[in-house]
Amino acid sequence: MGKKDIDWENLGFGYIKTDKRFVSYFKDGAWDEGALISDDSIVMSECACVLQYAQTVFEGLKAYTTKNGDIVTFRPDLNAARMEDSARRLEMPPFLAERFVEAVLETVRANADFVPPYGSGASLYIRPFMYGRNAVIGVKPADEYEFRIFTTPVGPYFKGGVKPLTLKVSDFDRAAPHGTGNIKAGLNYAMSLHPIVTAHAEGYDENLYLDAAGRTFVEETGGANFLFVTKDKKIVTPKSDSILPSITKRSLLTVAKDYLGLEVEERPVKLSELEAFDECGLCGTAAVISPVGRIDDHGKMIEFKGSSDQPGEVCMKLRETLTGIQLGEIEAPKGWIRGI
Ligand code: PLP
Ligand code: COI
Repeated sequence: MGKKDIDWENLGFGYIKTDKRFVSYFKDGAWDEGALISDDSIVMSECACVLQYAQTVFEGLKAYTTKNGDIVTFRPDLNAARMEDSARRLEMPPFLAERFVEAVLETVRANADFVPPYGSGASLYIRPFMYGRNAVIGVKPADEYEFRIFTTPVGPYFKGGVKPLTLKVSDFDRAAPHGTGNIKAGLNYAMSLHPIVTAHAEGYDENLYLDAAGRTFVEETGGANFLFVTKDKKIVTPKSDSILPSITKRSLLTVAKDYLGLEVEERPVKLSELEAFDECGLCGTAAVISPVGRIDDHGKMIEFKGSSDQPGEVCMKLRETLTGIQLGEIEAPKGWIRGI
């Protein structure tokens, strides 16, 4: 056994089948032990609740090879906790957080040959998910579930690596107040498919969604939270009950405060105040922190530092520090790194 023959440096964000996946089934009111299997296919009823009523939630985290050659994951306990919240909101039986973390580590260990080497810029993306399996035709939750974790080696989420992105202010809404925007449910991503296909066709990289009630405040994009930098280098990030609580965002706020000595503020952010910010970044597991160069608000272009050449310096410093922590180059806060 040894590393797979993959062109690690040139990986995009796509699916490559790896050797093993973890599966566990919920039946008669309890989760089974779970096991690693080789079969990547799933067979279920045509009337499964997930197929009819989208009863599915998921997570996303990464494994890295550190400077010392160890394989580590980043804050899997927070993904475990968020998946429990997501599951409860869709009336699914939560998968025990402790078992979630063990299963993530087991799955990464079983696919160690697919973890990109240190220095390649790539990582192993880990996708835990859960769905309602048995036949349901009246609208109600399933009684049987599968929890599964697969992995796939990935490079940058946005084509072209770390180059400033161009977004558009979307006319579609992502999440309603009191809806499901704050959980990681597949249904949130289904509704974003038409807006993202439309944005790409128009030449944009992503959508900026506004709050659905008033269309005044900045929410997030289809797959990442926003982070802004003021002219005096303060970090500002939108606060809203209908955005996903990003683990990367929460980590970057700590990095900004404790490692870079920057002031941070989480508060509602109006679309109308964006032009006062110096820098803008998208943060998420897949996005890491990807600099935004421009946001098109119906023909009015909001420009950030670095729009035409280099990404903004605070965003890049945050990115370097976070990836340095993930790759074992910089000491991590206690509990952030879990070796396999
Ligand atoms: N917002 C949305 C809608 C996402 O899909 C993601 C990705 O997981 C994020 C934010 C970022 O969250 P995290 O940093 O936990 O990956
Ligand atoms: C992640 O960052 O893990 C996500 O789930 C975002 C998704 C759009 C790929």
